[in-house]
Amino acid sequence: MNSGVDLLRIEDVGISFAIIGGPLHAVRRANLRVLPGKVTALVGESGSGKSVLSQAVMGILPNTAHVRGRILFSDPEKPGTTQDILQMPRDGPEIRALRGSRIGKIFQEPMTSLSPLHTVGNQVSESLQIHTPMARVERKARAEEMLDLVGFPNPKRAYDMYPFELSGGLR
Ligand SMILES: Nc1ncnc2c1ncn2[C@@H]1O[C@H](COP(=O)(O)OP(=O)(O)O)[C@@H](O)[C@H]1O
Ligand SMILES: [Mg+2]
Repeated sequence: MNSGVDLLRIEDVGISFAIIGGPLHAVRRANLRVLPGKVTALVGESGSGKSVLSQAVMGILPNTAHVRGRILFSDPEKPGTTQDILQMPRDGPEIRALRGSRIGKIFQEPMTSLSPLHTVGNQVSESLQIHTPMARVERKARAEEMLDLVGFPNPKRAYDMYPFELSGGLR
């Protein structure tokens, strides 16, 4: 299965921002491969461009960003196909089909990245609501299963809680 095919292949990616005083080069010629079934860590000092690169993979870079290179995604569920994420129209159907469904991101700083106005269950099951035809009860069961899998002591209770009610670690 998947012999020799990279799940994700980042090729010569450069990301810069147009700012006063000239362009800010956040990422210069980044190259990396993510292999199917393997964990890949990108390590670097603060400000070295890790987050900006992940934003490029998710198609969520701000409008002010200039990007070049290729980000090739080979979906194991669609063998033999490879898509260049950087060629996808911004917020078009192609990237929207991937984002939150095939590629996800856990943001830093949970107290700012989680909505204080929505319950934990609501936020965890949102991507299922967007990407699957599951019924509400089924979504709830699946979200609780996920909370259980990541170690929530009481997933059913956590489903109806707000982020501020959780400990820092659970957030
Ligand atoms: N929206 C933006 N506009 C201008 N510069 C940005 C923007 N986002 C990030 N940067 C700059 O890009 C560089 C890389 O940032 P970042 O990817 O957040 O680093 P890391 O995640 O590795 O700490 C930094 O110099 C940062 O200031
Ligand atoms: Mg970062």
